Amino acid sequence: MSNNPHSWQPVCPASELTPGQFVEFRLREKAREPAGMPLTGFLFLDGTTPRAYLNICPHLGVELNWMPGRFMDSDNLFIQCSTHGALFKPGDGECIAGPCQGDALTQLDLREHDGQIEIRLPE
Ligand code: FES
Repeated sequence: MSNNPHSWQPVCPASELTPGQFVEFRLREKAREPAGMPLTGFLFLDGTTPRAYLNICPHLGVELNWMPGRFMDSDNLFIQCSTHGALFKPGDGECIAGPCQGDALTQLDLREHDGQIEIRLPE
């Protein structure tokens, strides 16, 4: 297995990802700022399309969720930050309401390989 931080990292078997489920994971690569902090992310199905984002709110840099696996607002339409309620579009991570409106979540590169969903940080 490569230690190259930009190498692909398996998260879970594609067949195990079900609608409404959020899979949380830790990236191999650490944050550059603040240096060395562990990076976490989450993976889910947006309709039938798998998507993955870093679990970092662009407002204050905290994780979005308080409860494991809970990322959506009460209407189940938008990803919601549990700290100040910012709402993000599941499809592209754009913040459409809240203190970081106009900013966006960091989307991770994603592919399916040998039945696994794999992610990596974008270059
Ligand atoms: S920390 Fe996410 S909206 Fe403030």
